[in-house]
Amino acid sequence: MDIARTPTTPDGNPEMADAAFEPAQPPVIHRKDYAPFPWLLPATHLEFALGVEHTRVVSTLQIERNPAAAASAHILLNGDGLTAVSVRVDGQETSDWEMEGDNLRLNLSGDAHEISITTEIEPSANTQLMGLYASNGMLCTQCEAEGFRRITFFPDRPDVLSTYTVKMTGPKADFPVLLSNGNKAAEGDNGDGTHWAEWHDPWPKPSYLFALVAGDLVANTDSFTTVSGREVDLAIYVRAQNDGGDLDRTGHAMRSLVKSMKWDEEVFGREYDLDVFNIVAVSDFNMGAMENKGLNVFNTKYVLADPETATDGDFDGVEGVIAHEYFHNWSGNRITCQDWFQLSLKEGFTVLRDQLFSQDMQGEAVKRIEDVRILRSVQFPEDSGPLAHPIRPDSFREISNFYTATVYNKGAEVIRMMRTMCGPEAFRKGTDLYFDRHDGEAATCEDFITAMEDGAGLDLTQFRLWYSQAGTPKVAVDLTHAGDTATLTLRQTVPATADQPGKKPMPIPLKIAMFDRVSGQHSGEQLIVLKTDEQSFNFEGFAEKPILSINRGFSAPVTIERDIADEDLVFLAARDDDPFARYEAMQDLVVGHLTAASGNGLDDSARGTGRLAIAQAFEAVLSDDMLDDSMRGELMMLPGLTFLMEQQLVADPSRIHEEREGLKAWLGARFEDTLVTLHQRVSAVPYDQEATSRGARKVKTQALVYLAAGNSERASQIAAAQYHAADNMTDRQGALMVLTGLGTAARTDTLIDFHRRYAGNELVVDKWFALQASSLHPNAIEHVKALAQHKDFTIRNPNRVRSLYMAFAGNPHAFHAVDGEGYRLIADLILELDPINPQTAARFVSPLGRWRRIEPGRADLMRAELERIKAAENLSRDTFEQVTRSLG
Ligand code: ARG
Ligand code: ZN
Repeated sequence: MDIARTPTTPDGNPEMADAAFEPAQPPVIHRKDYAPFPWLLPATHLEFALGVEHTRVVSTLQIERNPAAAASAHILLNGDGLTAVSVRVDGQETSDWEMEGDNLRLNLSGDAHEISITTEIEPSANTQLMGLYASNGMLCTQCEAEGFRRITFFPDRPDVLSTYTVKMTGPKADFPVLLSNGNKAAEGDNGDGTHWAEWHDPWPKPSYLFALVAGDLVANTDSFTTVSGREVDLAIYVRAQNDGGDLDRTGHAMRSLVKSMKWDEEVFGREYDLDVFNIVAVSDFNMGAMENKGLNVFNTKYVLADPETATDGDFDGVEGVIAHEYFHNWSGNRITCQDWFQLSLKEGFTVLRDQLFSQDMQGEAVKRIEDVRILRSVQFPEDSGPLAHPIRPDSFREISNFYTATVYNKGAEVIRMMRTMCGPEAFRKGTDLYFDRHDGEAATCEDFITAMEDGAGLDLTQFRLWYSQAGTPKVAVDLTHAGDTATLTLRQTVPATADQPGKKPMPIPLKIAMFDRVSGQHSGEQLIVLKTDEQSFNFEGFAEKPILSINRGFSAPVTIERDIADEDLVFLAARDDDPFARYEAMQDLVVGHLTAASGNGLDDSARGTGRLAIAQAFEAVLSDDMLDDSMRGELMMLPGLTFLMEQQLVADPSRIHEEREGLKAWLGARFEDTLVTLHQRVSAVPYDQEATSRGARKVKTQALVYLAAGNSERASQIAAAQYHAADNMTDRQGALMVLTGLGTAARTDTLIDFHRRYAGNELVVDKWFALQASSLHPNAIEHVKALAQHKDFTIRNPNRVRSLYMAFAGNPHAFHAVDGEGYRLIADLILELDPINPQTAARFVSPLGRWRRIEPGRADLMRAELERIKAAENLSRDTFEQVTRSLG
């Protein structure tokens, strides 16, 4: 408990008079306070009498004293909004217990007991979508991180492992399918319209991995034979009541699952460990998916895909998330986390595993660029803002707020650096040792690091700072040349972040290559590790100053500040053999230009020179026959507005937007005919899911994006034609995206057509909302307000809320409307959503929290909205924490 914030008792404590009128604040939990639970729970038996409105839960826990913990005369069981209908100890009803806030404290005298507690819950009233809830008549659960305590009283913490048996009884008509973790042990008909099933999970697990699903479901089934010859039944369940449409869209997910199982055996030596693996797709879901043991529950968005309704990006999303959740079976379930501060132990590692898998499936170059783009547009802003935290945080009020890009994506980058430093073979030795040493345990990040040191032969003493220090390091690069020696001097700074004013230098592994100006070649890539504030490295044998290619493959999650001539960037953008470095050179060229142009302003001649250098590189990208289209599409993409704003200490969103649009229009006009020809070439490539065809579609939409800026009438015609001729969602959505940003008549027609064509398909209707909310159209904000009143909008469905409002908050030109209307809209949403679904509401705070980095006029308006939210009564712990951190 954060003492300074403790409210006074009603009878008043004079010493705390200051706090007397402050409402109660949720306590701060600290990593250093970890203590093991005093009791062990060898077995847990749960009985559910299921109903959408009312469900009765009887949980029977076998408990015994934990010899490794301090003895206690009671057991504290977490609850959240529960009342105990009955409490029994060793078969006897007891009243020797009391409520401590939401938790139940039960007094105990012996060393081993059987506790049995009955609770009653209302799934249909559960709008938070944590615990047991109803979605389209089906019942499902989400327990990570602390949802199990909304089902029954329990030590709801990840280091208490138990073996579960689950018996479910319910009306056959409503719930023909009854699923839980592990294997089905028995089932039967009660002869009164109800039936039952009992599931047993042989693997001890923490409560957050519990799952139950009951509903009218149909399944796509398959099987997988593991490396040691065990047969696993696979099933992907979707609701039956959707004209069977959903079932036909599960093929890609099933193929992805089989590939994931095979890949994890081959690349990490991990074999599956149950007779069944079930996945259920649910429309109402707070996050992407959940790795419950043997019963993964997924957002429909990451299961359903076919060419007609899903883009290439959606296909990749399904493949990546299926892999991610499957991989958790080892990195998460067989080895789980000691406490929630260790979240990155399972999430960072599992993200790295899914990234490596997708690289193997789709090609390394483009996947790496995509992953870096996400990191830089989401995690870098987080790391430089008020919500910055280390990948292993030291404190929180609400753990749901720490399922962040930092814990996930930066966490993955940190482990990827270990892999880069030791190489893939040694890395595998390290992970083997980790899995071997900690199987069946609730482990810590420190355990992982130690296993890496022992198994992979790394010394990670200084490297541990990556776990404790927040903030994106900056590396300033200076290259000088004298005689035949090039000297590379690197200086690092790790910026101060909230609660962490002074930082220490960290080891930063940088892959580099020096290009000889004459031959245009380099003599091999090298890995250097910058460990101190400043370090110099000499390279012999250069008659002229070489061209430096640095942080190749994005070997370290840092910002590189290099003083490099535009002509050298043009060279690297056209010639670098490292695809990421080539992309980076192109980005740097544009970022440098736009930052200068929108910062101090450039005169017309300087703007002209900057644009010409970009045009030269752009032309090389358009005309390079050696380049595949997928990579061409990446190289054509302009850096996003959020990333551009991040480059300035204090940004003016309108100025950057104008400059970026101005450049796009200039390139679009200059290359108009080339782009039209390119569009025609790639339009002739037939649809399939292979790389060539996917690359063609990426380039097709990129070409349209530039044309739309350069010649909107011509682009509008081509886009409308592409829209109507499309035989797949990638082309159709790409065309509609471009049209939605234009003011042409085709805009209205195609938006109406799209909505009519896909009426009833929730995931595609989500796209319809998102396209309008993220559009370049000058009236986007008015469109969003109107869409909030649309009959298809509902605040109860997280996907729909995100499709309208997350898309809007991520659309800087609209969100940052100069009168503050965008800020007000998001604040209103937060206030309306908070009582319904706090976890999702709190996710909308961070866009407002960027105020310190925005020009003063807007910054005041943003802060005022945060203050307005903070002043609201009964704010959830989730939103309260994010708002106070953002203002702090
Ligand atoms: N473990 C899940 C995953 O990343 C995410 C669950 C997050 N749940 C939450 N309530 N924040 O695969
Ligand atoms: Zn995960």
